[in-house]
Amino acid sequence: MYQTFFGLKESPFNGNPDPRYLYLTKQIQESLASLMYGIQARKGFITLTGEVGTGKTTLVNRLLDWLHQYKARTAYIFNSRLNTSDLLDFILAEFEIPCASRTKSQQLLRLNHWLLERYRMRETAVLIIDEAQNLSNSVLEEIRLLTNLETSTEKLLQIVLSGQPELEEKLKLPELRQLRQRITLRCKTSLLSIEETHAYVAERLRIAGANGTPIFSPEAIDLAHTYAHGIPRVINLLCEHALISAYTEQQRPVQPAAVSEAAREFQLDEIAPIAPPRDTTMEEAAEGSETFLHNAGEALSRFHIGSPEDTPARKQK
Ligand SMILES: Nc1ncnc2c1ncn2[C@@H]1O[C@H](COP(=O)(O)OP(=O)(O)OP(=O)(O)O)[C@@H](O)[C@H]1O
Ligand SMILES: [Mg+2]
Repeated sequence: MYQTFFGLKESPFNGNPDPRYLYLTKQIQESLASLMYGIQARKGFITLTGEVGTGKTTLVNRLLDWLHQYKARTAYIFNSRLNTSDLLDFILAEFEIPCASRTKSQQLLRLNHWLLERYRMRETAVLIIDEAQNLSNSVLEEIRLLTNLETSTEKLLQIVLSGQPELEEKLKLPELRQLRQRITLRCKTSLLSIEETHAYVAERLRIAGANGTPIFSPEAIDLAHTYAHGIPRVINLLCEHALISAYTEQQRPVQPAAVSEAAREFQLDEIAPIAPPRDTTMEEAAEGSETFLHNAGEALSRFHIGSPEDTPARKQK
């Protein structure tokens, strides 16, 4: 509805992890380059970690696009609540490897055989597991065992584990040290600096069709950055909401007041959208995030903006 008023072709601050919109901060650029290098060089095990809403899934989707062009075979799993017996089922299904048996040993044999065939054909096979912070220790241990599928010189399966900072904490557990030792590259996403926030907003507006005439006042973007603590997902939320209220008022460029109003709506003036410091109790942390998510969800549904969780898994071969 507001698109025409602001001269846009589409909604610039959609909450989906759309790789077309990926803004390459220095950090994201480095992480993307490392992921590409690690996979091409058959490094085996790579992690991608970062705070909630900082672009991990969007980056993974960009990586999948690249892998697709590079003719790699990919399996993308984001249902990280799976158990050890689901894991192999999911991997075989994603790689489209037919296997009549549901016995683990048979499935592993089948996978190994298929991977060797890919290797002979000079094809790369990549397993990407998103939301990996939720994986149980036993599933993580199963994943470690998959890194044993190798020739005498190279790993047959490249594995990317992507998740929130809790994943890093989990990987520090003594019982997961074997897995930790196998991680060859660690990539990150991070909070945006204020300069990056300005460039991020400009880039999303450009991709959505903006012609360069200011849509947001610089002060409005400064304020969105402050409330969002540099988290892109929250910046999107504030900017989307601010665009809607500015449109209602027929106001252009968008002023800081429209951003403050959005921040109040999401209670960002009361609750910070980032994890509280370590000494805060888990209960308080959970309560804070829950309230934030509840408010955000409610407001989103009112404005009919899809959340990333609504998006079905992208399936790319
Ligand atoms: N560098 C970026 N460029 C463009 N958009 C971004 C960037 N980082 C995040 N976003 C946007 O922010 C929103 C959240 O991103 P995404 O879902 O990728 O985060 P995430 O790190 O996977 O979050 P979670 O930890 O909750 O899974 C999406 O709308 C996404 O497009
Ligand atoms: Mg994600």
